[in-house]
Amino acid sequence: MTVTEFLSEVDDLSKESKNSLSNINTLDDLSQFFQDFLGKKGKIGNALKNLKQFNPEEKREVGPAIQLLKTDINNKFISKRDSLELEELNKKLKSDWIDVTKKEKLDSGNLHPISKIQREIEDIFSSMGFEISDGPQVETEWNNFDALNIPESHPARDMQDTFWIKTGSDDSQKNTVLRTQTSDVQIRSMLKYGAPVRLIAPGRVFRNEELDTTHDATFYQVEGLLIDKNINISHLKGVLETMLAKLFKKDIKIRIRPGYFPFVEPGLEVDIWFEIPGKEGKWLEFMGAGMVHPNVLKNCNIDPEVYQGFAFGFGLTRLVMMKYEIEDIRLLALPKKEFLSQF
Ligand code: FA5
Repeated sequence: MTVTEFLSEVDDLSKESKNSLSNINTLDDLSQFFQDFLGKKGKIGNALKNLKQFNPEEKREVGPAIQLLKTDINNKFISKRDSLELEELNKKLKSDWIDVTKKEKLDSGNLHPISKIQREIEDIFSSMGFEISDGPQVETEWNNFDALNIPESHPARDMQDTFWIKTGSDDSQKNTVLRTQTSDVQIRSMLKYGAPVRLIAPGRVFRNEELDTTHDATFYQVEGLLIDKNINISHLKGVLETMLAKLFKKDIKIRIRPGYFPFVEPGLEVDIWFEIPGKEGKWLEFMGAGMVHPNVLKNCNIDPEVYQGFAFGFGLTRLVMMKYEIEDIRLLALPKKEFLSQF
């Protein structure tokens, strides 16, 4: 090969590389281009191998020509690679782009209305110095009935139709029920903490009764208990009035009448006027209350000569119905998203 032939080959290679680079649009094609021209077995490499056949003087002419071409192709390769990479990055950024300022309507959940009101009630009573307490849903017959002054033979047991879990033992501590009232927590707390004590106990209760728009077989109650020295019924009245005023933030018509519960003496029933716009209003039984019976205090090792107190138990589910003007109590126990999401 003569010097002229070699230089003409360098010229051809220069044109060929420019031409093929201008047709490249992807990084894959560019990597093929690299192999074809600059790779170990590429066209520049082959040309460099041909240098061997030239004498030193000829090499001084052909050497720089091929070296310059190599550097030129390499520079063009790098700038093409940079621009293709940038293009790819921009494409990706465009497709992955998220507008963080856009207001998406997310399908988020919300608290059940019973939980909402329960929390409000807990806050109200906490602010009055009451502890929040709890009891199990499966309760001993003793805690649910006997200790509350309702022995087996007592007709008051028929007042609450009971779901029995375990029966048959002569020892009422061994029989179990689905608790029919949160009043069991009165017993548990007085046995645990003694006197004085001041607490509320929200929780689920169960009764085997016929269902209608205001009666369910499982519903929520909130128990209240305050035992101390020199407590009387006007303290009970004050606490209830404060709770209702804070919760409803408007006047609530209530009616207090004598009631019978074996674990309080005297006993009271509190009703609330329930009205849905456009419908006829009615009195709804809301709460039982009274001064804790001396027998109950004795069952919990508290001396009734020293301590007195009041207790109350209201229907939390009924309170939610009133607050949100819900016509049918059973709606609150159903997993109906359209209904529950409005609160
Ligand atoms: C009791 O359960 C007593 N433990 C309350 C009590 C506590 C009295 C402390 C004295 C001292 P009663 O069975 O009336 O009482 O139920 C209390 C409240 O639960 C009722 O006023 C009513 O609001 C609610 N309630 C009762 N039965 C149902 C039912 N089937 N569905 C929904 N709420 C009910």
